[in-house]
Formats: sequence, structure tokens, C-alpha cells
Amino acid sequence: MKIVVIQGPNLNMLGIREKSIYGPMKLEDIHSQMRTFAEQNKLEIEFFQSNLEGEIVDRIQECLGDADGIIINPAAYTHTSIAIRDALSAVQIPAIEVHLSNIHQREEFRHKSMTAPVCAGQIVGMGPFGYHLAMIGMVQILSEINAMKQAKKAKIQTQETGSNNS
Ligand code: DQA
Repeated sequence: MKIVVIQGPNLNMLGIREKSIYGPMKLEDIHSQMRTFAEQNKLEIEFFQSNLEGEIVDRIQECLGDADGIIINPAAYTHTSIAIRDALSAVQIPAIEVHLSNIHQREEFRHKSMTAPVCAGQIVGMGPFGYHLAMIGMVQILSEINAMKQAKKAKIQTQETGSNNS
């Protein structure tokens, strides 16, 4: 199982930017904790950060046929990007949206997420721990999808055995 973590604009500045809002932790430290969780849970994980909308769209498209789940913090593009929303919708890969801060407590323009409606879930206001919660959520989603696939397979096999016997 492979998870791709996509980080939007200015998240490369974590640890420097507005520490009172985003905390002191650097992006690479968040990623290193996620890598540990992935190793413990036998998951493959890849990280991508970009300040450019089109690059984020490209990375989402590259997930098609490659990744099983996407964890994404589109940062400021959350509130504006129909292109990122459409890309998430196009690939039909379960995605979880993460925000370090509680966007609903902040300026009004941050209350709206263009991307959340096409994500399986959204985690806000939990700081870096939100990424850990997203990993746990993704493991749950992927195991449910897997269980559904197995059940479907078993049903088809039962139907085939039934029609062979009749
Ligand atoms: C953010 C919230 C966004 O509104 C903001 O533009 C960011 C970070 C967060 O993680 O809290 O860059 O996505």
C-alpha cells in the first residue's frame, strides 16, 4: 500500500513562518514522524511539497495507478483551487485533507475549502499531530476498501461455483 503526502505553498517554511499559528516543527520533522509510522505499518510513503498549483495538480495526476491514498495539505490553495479539487476528483483515490491550524477559527476566507468536498475527510487544528491522525485514518480507509474488494471477489467466486454446478 502506498501513500503520497502532498504539501502546498509555504509549508516548506514551517518552523520559521508564524510559529504562533503553525508551531515550531519543521516540515522534514513532520515527514520523519510519518515515515516512522509508515514503516511500523508496512506502508510505502512518498512526500512532495510545491509552491506551484500546476505542480500539485501534476503530482496528484501521477498518483493514478501508483498510489492507494493521498494525504494533502493544499495550504492557501485550499481556499481557491478548483484545479486541485478537479485533480483529486479525477484520480478517485481516497484523500484526507490536513490543516495544522483550525481554519474555521481564522479569517473568513479560510473557512471555505474547495478541496474538502472531494476528500474522504478533513483534519484541522491539531497541529503536526493532524498528519499522524490522517495516517491512522488512511490505514482504516484502505483496510475497509480492501475488505470490500475481498467480499466482492468471494461473492463472484460463489456465483461462478453456483453456475458451474447448475
Ligand atoms: C494551512 C491553512 C491555510 O489557510 C494556510 O494558507 C496555510 C496553512 C494549515 O495547515 O493550517 O498555508 O493549510
